[in-house]
Amino acid sequence: MLIRKPSDIDPSEITDEQDYLNRRAFIRSTARTAATVALGAAASTLVPDTVQAGEPTGRVLPDVRKSPLSTDEEPNDFDDITGYANFYELGSRKKDPARNAHHLITDPWSVAIEGEVAKPGVLAVEDLLKPHPLEERIYRMRCVEAWSMVIPWVGFPLADLLKRFEPTADARFVAFETLHDPKMLPGQSRPVLKWPYVEGLRMDEAMHPLTLMAVGLYGRVLPKPNGAPLRLVVPWKYGFKSIKSIVRIRLTRTQPPTSWSRSSPGEYGFYANVNPEVDHPRWSQSSERRIGTFFKRKTEMFNGYGDQVAALYAGMNLKRHF
Ligand code: MTE
Repeated sequence: MLIRKPSDIDPSEITDEQDYLNRRAFIRSTARTAATVALGAAASTLVPDTVQAGEPTGRVLPDVRKSPLSTDEEPNDFDDITGYANFYELGSRKKDPARNAHHLITDPWSVAIEGEVAKPGVLAVEDLLKPHPLEERIYRMRCVEAWSMVIPWVGFPLADLLKRFEPTADARFVAFETLHDPKMLPGQSRPVLKWPYVEGLRMDEAMHPLTLMAVGLYGRVLPKPNGAPLRLVVPWKYGFKSIKSIVRIRLTRTQPPTSWSRSSPGEYGFYANVNPEVDHPRWSQSSERRIGTFFKRKTEMFNGYGDQVAALYAGMNLKRHF
């Protein structure tokens, strides 16, 4: 994030148009086959150590239904999504997370839900999944460095999860924390950020129906570079809000710290709503390059989700609360 600007993107990282179309046709057919494979088993956290280019890998998630909240835009290819990732704990270059994914062991994995809740608890990921019918939601995602992707996430609403733990009347924010384990996440042995990675949402943002706990993509368990086994997805905010590999969710009375705003408060705010009218101090946020395409496109307010979320910020000065 702080490391590279869009102008720094190596041209070799931009997919050749014909390659892109060929791969897309291939991926579509394999994804369709995968979706028809009925495993009948509960969703597993089994994730392969390496990510093969081109072919969606990982355990197929059963009984995934389409969500009406999806965009009808064409999703990015599986290998663009897994191969061009930001996960600083696995390296600070876009290709590092796929290369270093084998360090991260995601089975077993548990998540603590605590703070301002009547029933705090620690749950294994499989238990978190069971009561939730999984949905495929195709969301557009916009990164702060002016690139974007369309990703077919699989997950369930964060609101459903939080309700199970009975938030108290004092719960005003939700704080999230990534695993802290430099053996599994070797990037944590370098002080690129203060570890563990932390993020936060206001309670109404967390309870919004668009806010997703993602456990998969392309119909399969979440690949490690994308934050296996459990990550947040907030599609109207810049990508850095979508914290990966979560182990703790804490409901709080006060606004929690967030990794990037703590590291560089003049550049990254708590809200981080996609806003083409508020530039990052070092680059414009008015347009974006969709990975896998050549020409830039105009960035939409709230990443195009304004009809659903603008009311959350009514009356707020979004230049100040960036
Ligand atoms: N979560 C953790 N734990 N560590 C990170 O470095 N990077 C963030 C976010 N979540 C990050 C993280 C940033 S900067 C972005 S743009 C998105 O993840 C990228 O998600 P993706 O790689 O799945 O597209």
